[in-house]
Amino acid sequence: MTKYVIRGGKPLYGTVDISGAKNAAVAILPAALLVEGSCRIENLPQISDVTLILNILQELGADVRLVNRTTVDIDCSHIRNAMVPDALARKIRASYYLIGALLGRFGSAEVAPPGGCDFGGRPIDQHIKGFAAMGADVDVKGGLIRACAREGRLIGTTIYMDMVSVGATMNIILAATLAEGTTIIENAAKEPHVVDLANFLNSMGASIMGAGTDVIKIRGVDRLSGGSYSIIPDQIEAGTYMAAVTATGGEVLIKNVIPKHLECITAKLLEMGAEVEELDDAVLVRRNEPLHRINVKTLPYPGFPTDMQPQVAACLCVADGTSVLTEGVWDNRYRYVDEFRRMGAQIQVDGKTAVIEGISQLTGAAVEACDLRAGAALVIAGLAAQGTTEIGQIQHIERGYEDIVRKLSGIGADIRVVVTPDEGKAAQAG
Ligand code: EPU
Repeated sequence: MTKYVIRGGKPLYGTVDISGAKNAAVAILPAALLVEGSCRIENLPQISDVTLILNILQELGADVRLVNRTTVDIDCSHIRNAMVPDALARKIRASYYLIGALLGRFGSAEVAPPGGCDFGGRPIDQHIKGFAAMGADVDVKGGLIRACAREGRLIGTTIYMDMVSVGATMNIILAATLAEGTTIIENAAKEPHVVDLANFLNSMGASIMGAGTDVIKIRGVDRLSGGSYSIIPDQIEAGTYMAAVTATGGEVLIKNVIPKHLECITAKLLEMGAEVEELDDAVLVRRNEPLHRINVKTLPYPGFPTDMQPQVAACLCVADGTSVLTEGVWDNRYRYVDEFRRMGAQIQVDGKTAVIEGISQLTGAAVEACDLRAGAALVIAGLAAQGTTEIGQIQHIERGYEDIVRKLSGIGADIRVVVTPDEGKAAQAG
């Protein structure tokens, strides 16, 4: 078993570099399926979700070559297979993007339902509604999603999304890029990674307008040809380091970011008493004074991101007074609260609301990451706590954070990876 062991209570000082955006990468890699020719993708984060998608592309027959740590060349010209291996698809949420990309390129796709973090129900009805509106028959049974364009090629149309969905917006963009005619997505998601996917596809010859607004227009083209593209910095990774220095105190320069994408996070950290200075492609975060209570409601972009809700909760555990968190995106994103309580946090959850009574100090404890951002929040809580925190189930964290232990050590955190014999195996061996 591999754990992170953190000795907390130390402020953070120094400089940290942010990697490419996970939620952009996991859509842009499948988007390479639409390209006939070689595309170079730069600034890829080195995380297990990216490795998994690259493995899936290879299994489908793509030529995948790593150029260096963060750059890959992908050539999907010779792919003929639109069936994604089950075991791989089930490990990752973003495998749903393979449906849109394969359906767009070949007129058919067969993919197992996606895995990923558990936040209660994670339906994909809006993705299916979009594909069906474009003329696909979509069948979900026998543990498989099968989609097939009735005319052999999808046909553009207007699709109104019943709720703002990042995944459905991006999946419909993928499906519509090579469709016949024009597709209009109304009530589209506006997240930076939606814009990044559209920019990637446009740089390969697509015609997508309006990404970043709530109406996106995709004029179908006959083919995309190769090119090279660099993925945007990860908004949530940057926000996580901003929250870490807010919780521990200290001063950290967070480099390779787009400050505009961080404004929704910056605003709340300022309200809590942190200082944030925006530079061209960096933010300097400082915290010397005690933290104040705040209220936070998560919303689609440009609202406060749900993917920062657990990390900001870690800060609020040690703020003065009572804070109220309202989760506006997912039904059940407070599963981490029991782990926080082991560290002394005072949190009550009622449905989508969590009430946090700030205390002066968290105490180190043995805890488990139940999902990616919950894991990141436990790391922050451990860094701020007095004593030693051991975090298990860290594979959730490594799905989305490149080199988190090295990056945090570089800004003065006392965090190490400890491998202990698996208890089950040890008992068997004994
Ligand atoms: N929804 C539906 N039907 C759908 C699609 C979504 O009801 O067909 C609902 C969901 O249940 C949820 C809301 O709409 O209540 C928003 O879901 P969305 O589709 O936007 O989420 P997603 O695409 O599955 C992505 C990120 C998540 C992030 C959300 C919201 C990826 C791979 N995942 O998920 O990221 O929380 O958008 O911003 O891009 C993370 O990185 O830790 C993470 C979980």
